[in-house]
Amino acid sequence: MDRRNFLKVIAGATVIAVNPSLIKGTLYAADGTLYQAYEKAQLVDGAGKPIKATTLEKEVTYIFNYPYASTPCMLINLPNSTNKDVDLSSENGEKYIWKSGVGKERTVVAYSAICAHQLTHPTPADSFIAYVPLAKKTMAYEKSGVIVCSSHLSAYDAAAGAKVLGGAATQPLASVVLEVASDDTIWAVGVLGSDKFQDYFKSFKPELKQFYNGPAEAKKLVSISAKTVKLTEFSKELIQY
Ligand code: FES
Repeated sequence: MDRRNFLKVIAGATVIAVNPSLIKGTLYAADGTLYQAYEKAQLVDGAGKPIKATTLEKEVTYIFNYPYASTPCMLINLPNSTNKDVDLSSENGEKYIWKSGVGKERTVVAYSAICAHQLTHPTPADSFIAYVPLAKKTMAYEKSGVIVCSSHLSAYDAAAGAKVLGGAATQPLASVVLEVASDDTIWAVGVLGSDKFQDYFKSFKPELKQFYNGPAEAKKLVSISAKTVKLTEFSKELIQY
């Protein structure tokens, strides 16, 4: 990202408001109201080795925590190129544009894994939310190749900015803005869309204590790198309808 584009710094040196139309990444908001840049973090595997975009397995849900130490996000390498310039709107009616996936064929996407309906999310114990590969069926939508939250069967379009396709959710999942460098490494740089991070922190205090040593650790901003593992390694049990 071009750091000359920063407009102002809020909440210390780590959270930065930026005019999204100036970002050199591939996702941006139309008017800047729903984009927030965070510390840039490189996606690395469980051993700390940088993950390369071209080596991501297709249609596998990977999990990394970003922009906070406890907020899970999904990384998916989709089977086909994503849509371009998708018009989205938050449940409050704010409009924004999701430009496309990243990588050579625009197949790599990342979204917050906190469901926009009632905040279902993957924990080390279990997960009710994941991408459903094309070869599998889901009760949430007529087609697979979508992200499904099995708590109340919301379906999100993985190839179109996590637009809601069906179910109880009333807005897209927030997108994680990614950059792929010339050496094929992947970097998370910000969040686009209406996120549910503060609601999540308020609603899951005992869980944050159990898995992240309490709210202070859970709310730490991720920087430098973000460990990225398959959902099947992140959560002991996967539930999908
Ligand atoms: S919490 Fe995800 S559909 Fe209700």
